[in-house]
Amino acid sequence: MSQPPIHAPIPELYVSYESAQKLKVEAGELPSWDLTARQVCDLELLMNGGFNPLKGFMSEEDYNGVVDNMRLSDGALWPMPINLDVSEKFAEGVEEGQDIALRDQEGVILAILSITDKWVPNKSHEAEKVFGADDLAHPAVNYLHNQAGPVYLGGPITGIQPPVHYDFKGRRDTPNELRAYFRKMGWRKVVAFQTRNPLHRAHQELTFRAAKEAQANLLIHPVVGMTKPGDVDHFTRVRCYEAVLDKYPQSTTTMSLLNLAMRMAGPREAVWHGLIRKNHGCTHIIVGRDHAGPGKNSAGEDFYGPYDAQDLFRANQADIGIEMVDFKHMVYVQERAQYEPNDEIEDRDNVTILNISGTELRRRLREGLEIPEWFSFPEVVNELRRTSPPRAKQGFTVFFTGLSGSGKSTIANALMVKLMEMGGRPVTLLDGDVVRKHLSSELGFSKEHRDLNIERIGYVASEITKNGGIAICAPIAPYTATRRSVREMIEAFGAFVEIHVATSLEECEKRDRKGLYKLAREGKIKEFTGISDPYEAPTNAELVVDTKDVDVDHCAHQVILKLESMGLIKG
Ligand code: PPS
Repeated sequence: MSQPPIHAPIPELYVSYESAQKLKVEAGELPSWDLTARQVCDLELLMNGGFNPLKGFMSEEDYNGVVDNMRLSDGALWPMPINLDVSEKFAEGVEEGQDIALRDQEGVILAILSITDKWVPNKSHEAEKVFGADDLAHPAVNYLHNQAGPVYLGGPITGIQPPVHYDFKGRRDTPNELRAYFRKMGWRKVVAFQTRNPLHRAHQELTFRAAKEAQANLLIHPVVGMTKPGDVDHFTRVRCYEAVLDKYPQSTTTMSLLNLAMRMAGPREAVWHGLIRKNHGCTHIIVGRDHAGPGKNSAGEDFYGPYDAQDLFRANQADIGIEMVDFKHMVYVQERAQYEPNDEIEDRDNVTILNISGTELRRRLREGLEIPEWFSFPEVVNELRRTSPPRAKQGFTVFFTGLSGSGKSTIANALMVKLMEMGGRPVTLLDGDVVRKHLSSELGFSKEHRDLNIERIGYVASEITKNGGIAICAPIAPYTATRRSVREMIEAFGAFVEIHVATSLEECEKRDRKGLYKLAREGKIKEFTGISDPYEAPTNAELVVDTKDVDVDHCAHQVILKLESMGLIKG
């Protein structure tokens, strides 16, 4: 019997072990680029054949073809630009024809790039063509403009070693390892399920049905590289997947982790996922409603239509070389106690159809509410509850902002004591003066230094929040953009409660508790907030308090009420 193509090995970009040892020493002399987290993901899939037929980071010609027509210069289908984006400074020091070493974040040399192309891309054009809009609400467009370097390098890769992973080693497979596994198991048809979310009963049912429909075995192939900001972290997800794996009939299904950096590019991403799964030896892939959708654009509308991904996949299926199994939207029919495809329920007026959306699930987790057994498996719910405890048990940050002498520190101190009296979570006060003594002693009051100071406070507060504590910050923090960036940093882990202590300049100056306003008026202190330096008042603070004619205890109590209303502390 002839071997199905999924069993044949796929080309990799690695050199032999001996050559790698030699090259590693030689590469030590080369200019070297420290790869970003996303570039490490891209490089791993380039080297292990996951991005076959790419042989390195794209040349300018390939890039233009991919951006404009989803085609490499030789005509092969490829929907996603894969470039080495670098800083201007680094680009100035290297040129076409030169080799550079590519290092991971610990400095280990993973590969050599032989530069053939160096150019400055038109990022807005790339955003329009690849992601459908030059809109920063799209996570990959935001990445493109605000994180990716301005210059692209292209050229073939010589692979020295794969990136090291310390987590779930046994669950990570290269395309050739998976192909070998399918060969060993005699699996001739394999349907892949791409996912970046925990699996619940509906997913299990739909994957099971897809496999039955295609008469294939099933590969649960979750992405653990980079997904959409705000997703459940991959550590939690993998524990959830492992729990669900036991629910499938033995030896029909396997699970492997894919270190892909997703772009959330909807239709193009679906085509890309298909090519990657073909490289991993699959014959089918499940493509669902709103596959790899990035959410809403800045006008509040969906970036892509719900079935755009399926349409683009279908139009290119022959070139992708793997078949699409379109996702059935599964819902629970209470009377029959089973999941059924929503579009196949004929007696829908006589039965009770149940479903819990992702948003509703997050709400229930946040508020510690019941998650019914028909929706998910108890093991999965337990894992999710461990990672996302109800809000009253999560860490959070209270961030006071206001003029010097407005009363920030006094209220912050009172709040700290009240929270400690309640107990339950450790409380840390990062007061302006204290921070300037211990964290930022070398900084002055220029815009640059103030921003740095606030970013440091934000970083410490985000770590406290992440680890379940309460951080109370009380700097002046005069700039809106910096406060916003701190908010984003913290909201990745818990709530950010901004409190504007809006005591007027007049009142602060009248009090002049530290005598600084007098000195500032006399010009003896430069760049003094409110006098000779700006204060941009918040417009979206969770709470505004004014300490004029109001005692501290009352202000602190107002904050406590706010925290209660947000579910952060129990009344
Ligand atoms: S900032 O802008 O947020 O970095 O400032 P912050 O670190 O909170 O400032 C802490 C205290 O520094 C004193 N101080 C000044 N404030 C404003 N402008 C100038 N030029 C300045 N020089 C010294 C001031 O007492 C601030 O403390 P608070 O507690 O706000 O009164």
